Amino acid sequence: MKNSWNRFVFQLWVPFYDASFALYRKNKEWRLRAFEELGLKENTKLLDVGCGTGLNVPIVPKTVDYTGLDISEAMLNKASQKFPDKKFVIGDACALPFKDGEFDFLINTYSVNVLPDVAQALREMKRVSKKTVLYDHFRSGNPIVAFLQLLSKPFGFLLGIDTFVSIEKELKKAGIEARIEKLDFLGAYKLAVF
Ligand SMILES: C[S@@+](CC[C@H](N)C(=O)[O-])C[C@H]1O[C@@H](n2cnc3c(N)ncnc32)[C@H](O)[C@@H]1O
Repeated sequence: MKNSWNRFVFQLWVPFYDASFALYRKNKEWRLRAFEELGLKENTKLLDVGCGTGLNVPIVPKTVDYTGLDISEAMLNKASQKFPDKKFVIGDACALPFKDGEFDFLINTYSVNVLPDVAQALREMKRVSKKTVLYDHFRSGNPIVAFLQLLSKPFGFLLGIDTFVSIEKELKKAGIEARIEKLDFLGAYKLAVF
């Protein structure tokens, strides 16, 4: 997805975003699974890439120094209203405005298949953080599911997402070795750790 399209689409999502995720049954379970895998430690620095309205913030322990980054000013305005004491930065996941190794941990939930250059963003995540956990809806290894994902691309475009992104191919392109775990039986939602 292009950043200009993402800014436009996610601005439209803002009024409904939190309510739509509240209805999404697996949402809470997978967020907790990602944080369990991350293994946050006290007094460390965490970057939340594509943080949106800050749905991960309540999971983060108070002693962790949290920074949320997103391309959408509208999503970040909502996040700041909800969590005025937290740091939120406007920026592009493909060109993170941080130094090498600046963060101990990095989380990315549902903000990979939206990116204009996934491999470049993966390289950036690896550069700025010692450990990254991400999960999103990706191309399934099951050919029937993958075909349906291909057919649904135009609908996904309207929502700002591309579920036909192959995380395995993008990690390979980025030169990153990761452990990948399937979160659902269709093999479409996947978590990666590197
Ligand atoms: C589906 S939302 C996920 C938000 C949040 N991580 C969550 O778990 O609810 C995708 C987010 O990615 C952001 N995004 C899209 N392109 C981006 C980019 N190039 N850099 C950073 N964030 C981006 C969008 O603005 C949106 O807030």
